[in-house]
Parts: sequence; structure tokens; C-alpha cells
Amino acid sequence: MKAADLFSLKGKVALVTGASSGLGQQFARALADNGAAVALVARRAERLETFKAELEKSGAKAVAIEADVTKRADMVAAFDKAEKALGPLTTLVNNAGVAQAALRATDVSEEEWRRVLSVDLDAVFYWSQEAARRMLAAGTKGAIVNIASVLGFGAHKGVAAYATAKAGVVQVTRALGLELAFKGVRVNAIAPGWFVTEINDAYLNGEAGVALKRSIPMGRFGQEGDLTGALLLLASDAGAYMTGTTIVVDGGQISALNG
Ligand SMILES: NC(=O)c1ccc[n+]([C@@H]2O[C@H](COP(=O)([O-])OP(=O)(O)OC[C@H]3O[C@@H](n4cnc5c(N)ncnc54)[C@H](OP(=O)(O)O)[C@@H]3O)[C@@H](O)[C@H]2O)c1
Repeated sequence: MKAADLFSLKGKVALVTGASSGLGQQFARALADNGAAVALVARRAERLETFKAELEKSGAKAVAIEADVTKRADMVAAFDKAEKALGPLTTLVNNAGVAQAALRATDVSEEEWRRVLSVDLDAVFYWSQEAARRMLAAGTKGAIVNIASVLGFGAHKGVAAYATAKAGVVQVTRALGLELAFKGVRVNAIAPGWFVTEINDAYLNGEAGVALKRSIPMGRFGQEGDLTGALLLLASDAGAYMTGTTIVVDGGQISALNG
């Protein structure tokens, strides 16, 4: 079989959370470019509409759905709208995420801890759970791709909530992968290193960013396209025998974190 066929997403119906900016748009574009119909989910509806129009211009089928990933009613409505517009869901990319306020652990309020954990971890579990229930009911051999982080494997100062949530994403990926394996629903994750997006723009373009870049063995931040290979592998039949795993895509940074 040719690589293009192996990695093809023709006939797949994907839902991407956090598709109003950054990596979510990169993921949605990559899925659409390789044949999937895509449901774009986030809170900023105008951005989603603009992005949907952009995808449609290049021939893709897309739907924009305003939803807050922390709200259960929004979640159920988002899956319903996606399936009504595009057909039964085959693929979920749990990408929506927030950074935490750069506070030392002793200064993190309960409210801030819950804000970060509810988007970066709780929503990943609940949206995976809802997707899996639907895939199992429809008898779909589905794929769930969770977006973790290298900070799920190591920590900096000032990221206790975020790093804890992302370590949780790695573990929830293992747990769901294990439970759903025999049912044909695969659950994997991607752990990106540093990519300049709205979540970290000020940080990476400031002094800290210069030092950080130096600590990356490949000497640069990630750029558009760097995550596409991992995403297509996990979302397509090319990854048919993979579940519960996390692929690190970080220019070698994880070795530096642990070294
Ligand atoms: N950039 C990096 O270096 C990096 C590295 C490792 C991991 N990641 C992970 O990659 C993912 C995407 O981040 P990014 O860098 O692309 O940041 P970003 O540009 O800030 O995008 C975050 C996305 O999440 C959405 N979002 C946040 N809270 C939400 C909520 N309650 N409900 C629905 N959507 C919500 C935002 O949409 P709305 O505001 O419109 O709702 C936005 O589309 C995150 O999980 C992040 O932790 C990023």
C-alpha cells in the first residue's frame, strides 16, 4: 500500500477542540487536507466561522460549533451538531487548553488550579468518554488523539497545575487506550515541545524564550507542519496497532528536561 493511502483520512469525521487558534487550527487543517470532514469547536465563534470558510475554500467539509469544553451541555450539543452536519464521528482531537498564571505552587489559588485542571485534564476525559460512547454505540473503529505536553513528563517552576494536568493526559490516554482496545477505539496522545502560539506568545518571545530556545537540542521552537506526521499516524489506519501511547514531538527537548 502506498503511504498516501495508508495515511488517508477519506471518509473520516473528526472533531477538533480548540480550533479557533494555534495548534488546533494546524491539526484541523492537516485532517481536512488529508480527506477528513472536520467539526471545529471553541468558544470564539467568529474565528471558527472564518476558519471554516478558509477550509471550505480548499474543498474541505467543515462545521463551526461554539462550545466551552468545561460545560457538559455544550459538549453533548457539540457532538450532536457535528454528527448531524457531518455523520457519525470517527476521530476526536482533544486539543483545547489553557496556560496557568505563572505562579509558584504556594501562590496558586484553588480557583486557578480548578480553571487549569478543568480545561486541560477533566475535559479531555469527559470528551473522550462521550466520543467513545458514541463510537461504541455506532460500532465505529475510532481514534482519539489527546494533546499533552513535554511538561507532562517534566516540570519548570510556575507550571504546577499545567504540568499536573498534562501528566494526567498521558495517564488517561493509557487508561482509556487499555479499556477501549478490544472495542476498536484507539486512544493516543501527542506531547508537543514549544510552539509559538497565543498560549505562550509573550513568554516565548521574551527573555525566557531565548534561554528556552537554547535548551532545545534542535535549536528552534516547533513550527507549522512539525506535528502533522504524528497526528496523521495516530488518526489514520497507519496507526491501527497503536493505542495508549504518547508521541513526543519536541526537537529533542525532553532529553534536556530529564538531563
Ligand atoms: N504551544 C505550545 O508550545 C504547546 C506545547 C505543548 C502543548 N500544547 C497544547 O496544545 C494545545 C493547543 O494550544 P495552543 O498552543 O494552540 O494555544 P492557543 O493558541 O491558546 O489555543 C488554545 C485553544 O483552546 C481553546 N480553549 C481554551 N479554553 C477553552 C474552553 N474552555 N472551551 C473551548 N475551547 C477552549 C481556545 O479557544 P477559545 O478561546 O476560542 O475557546 C483555543 O482555540 C493545548 O492543549 C496546549 O496545552 C501547546
